[in-house]
Amino acid sequence: MNRRTFLKRSLLGTIGLAGAGYGGYYYAHEIEPRWVKIVRNDIESERIPASFDGFTLLQLSDTHIGFNYGLKELDDLIQTVGELDPDLILFTGDLIDDPSTITNQQYAQIKDKLSKIQSRYGNYWIYGNHDHGGYGTEKIAQVMSSAGFQLLKNETTKIQKDGDHINLSGLDDVLLGNPEITQLIDESEQDHFNILLSHEPDFADTTKNYPFDVQLSGHSHGGQIQLPIIGYIITPILGEKYVEGSFTLGQRPLQLFVSKGLGTTRLPFRFLCRPEINLYTLRKK
Ligand SMILES: [Fe+2]
Repeated sequence: MNRRTFLKRSLLGTIGLAGAGYGGYYYAHEIEPRWVKIVRNDIESERIPASFDGFTLLQLSDTHIGFNYGLKELDDLIQTVGELDPDLILFTGDLIDDPSTITNQQYAQIKDKLSKIQSRYGNYWIYGNHDHGGYGTEKIAQVMSSAGFQLLKNETTKIQKDGDHINLSGLDDVLLGNPEITQLIDESEQDHFNILLSHEPDFADTTKNYPFDVQLSGHSHGGQIQLPIIGYIITPILGEKYVEGSFTLGQRPLQLFVSKGLGTTRLPFRFLCRPEINLYTLRKK
């Protein structure tokens, strides 16, 4: 190879690499974070009452509003949820990325959008670590409550249908709140179908010792950035062991589902780790 050919090839190689780099950057910044995937799962259990066979739960998680997720994304979300038409909506924490940066006017706009997200049997939510951070605890509770979402902070509620019921419990955030699992299910309710919402998935190692059939979590974002073959690289504390997908734990057994969530935090990128909405259909076994 003469010098001229070598220089020409080197130059083309450099341009190619820079192009791939820019393409990857553009894709991970502009395309994938807004390319929401609907992840569907059936949940089977003999404890599901016959009248709940086919009942749908829609899980939304980790919007991190204010960081690469705004009113436009909420509009898209309202439309998607409307099309999926779920029986129950469950928000598993991290509504706002940094509550101290959101103005009252912005909170009012967020409330207006959230109130358009509706389901037949109600909307429930739990705190995530980002909601408790930045003095968000009270403000976010106000916004969610006026938008029609009921907070489950170490509480259990009965979801009733045709004379049957299932129990839905929510835990306060494990990292920055005061989670209390021991009193959530009364002895008389232990044989019912019991669902726990816990922002941090790794808490399932505790949950599996209590009478729960399902735990729904978020928090990990699936790592946000994954590499082919290797998968996720960095995940947050208490989202390190159960990072994505579903797991079966303990004797009962407990079925754990971990959502990759909708938004991003720290870095405004997603790569091979699309944002997701999770739709679960209950099936009586
Ligand atoms: Fe999060």
